[in-house]
Amino acid sequence: MFDITKIRDEFPILTRTVNGKPLIYFDNGATTQKPKQVIDAITNYYTNQNSNIHRGVHTLSREITIAYEEARKTIQKHLHAKFSHEIIFTKGTTDSINLVAHCFGKINIESGDEIIITQMEHHSNIVPWQLLCEEKKAILKFIPINQEGELLLDELPKLITSKTKLVAFTHISNTLGTINPVKEIIHIIRNLSHAAILVDGAQAVPHLQPDVQDLDCDFYVFSGHKLYGPTGVGILYGKEEWLNKFPPYQSGGGIIKTVTLQKTEFADLPLKLEAGTPHIEGGIGLAEAINYVTNIGFEQIQKKEHELLQYLTKKLLGIDGVTIYGTSKNKTTVVSFNVGDIHPFDIGTLLDKYGIAVRSGHHCTQPLWEFYHVPGTIRASLSFYNTIEEIDYFLDALNKSIRLLS
Ligand code: ALA
Repeated sequence: MFDITKIRDEFPILTRTVNGKPLIYFDNGATTQKPKQVIDAITNYYTNQNSNIHRGVHTLSREITIAYEEARKTIQKHLHAKFSHEIIFTKGTTDSINLVAHCFGKINIESGDEIIITQMEHHSNIVPWQLLCEEKKAILKFIPINQEGELLLDELPKLITSKTKLVAFTHISNTLGTINPVKEIIHIIRNLSHAAILVDGAQAVPHLQPDVQDLDCDFYVFSGHKLYGPTGVGILYGKEEWLNKFPPYQSGGGIIKTVTLQKTEFADLPLKLEAGTPHIEGGIGLAEAINYVTNIGFEQIQKKEHELLQYLTKKLLGIDGVTIYGTSKNKTTVVSFNVGDIHPFDIGTLLDKYGIAVRSGHHCTQPLWEFYHVPGTIRASLSFYNTIEEIDYFLDALNKSIRLLS
């Protein structure tokens, strides 16, 4: 049973006020709020467990090493990865993509090679590939989109050549909410080339449970903080055969077997790619967040979020001058819109006065706005802990803001 009162009670921040009004948090695409279970795990770490991992024979260190490696296994199980050493802890999605761009680029990209991304990527899945292409004199290509904000997959086979070395694309668009048909895309690529495939799951993991073996991607990346976990921790899933070939990304302590003054022998996976003391409480908190959402169940989460999306979309389209960007049938609870010529910052600022948090601007997807010929939008991104009552309050505040600005 989905008990919304109980669920909202589990998120302490949802009881606070902003500008004297109850907080309405519709900026879940930027980061999700944290349940008490995650906050408690982090507090417990600093209260009872704090010590370094993989470095001590004393009890605290051994205990926390076990807990951290258990967290890795929870993430492995959640993604259905074959081995726990295919799960690399990083700082977040951006860090994970940079790691792949650096290591994959070093061993596998040469002058004239090609990398394919899409027109709907977040800057973090564009810029690292631009830099790599610039450095290696490789070529960056793009899968275009249609007006609904869906990938034009008929174009993909035309983009793939014998020089295609990597295809990187988002699972769910942070701006349009489009859920891309990942399996179908991977099937097209696998039929035509040996290119490696990276899926950016940053916006997908709060809404669905990816199965990396079933998808057959080479890399799947996401951030903890979008999945109700802590900031500063993220995941790179990579197939063992790729990660084994990767040179170290960063060097230092923790990634070595032996060091002489002349030479270093590196550790095996996953430690080879995890230099320095990691975000220990982040890993533990992320595993706790996964336990939390798993306990609610993704079927329940999707049912609730679908209901919210339908209601919000229908009501928004009833307001004069509203244009929604991202109208795919297959989308999640991300609604980007503009009202006539009113600047998104103006509406965002007024909504804040009502205690409502939305994101206004380009949402780190400027190439998308080049396509739609607008500078950006207001983005309401909802979670399962939001309610129809909150949407009604939001619509009322939006209408008042529009009247004031028109
Ligand atoms: N990538 C985050 C967003 O879409 C920050 O808002």
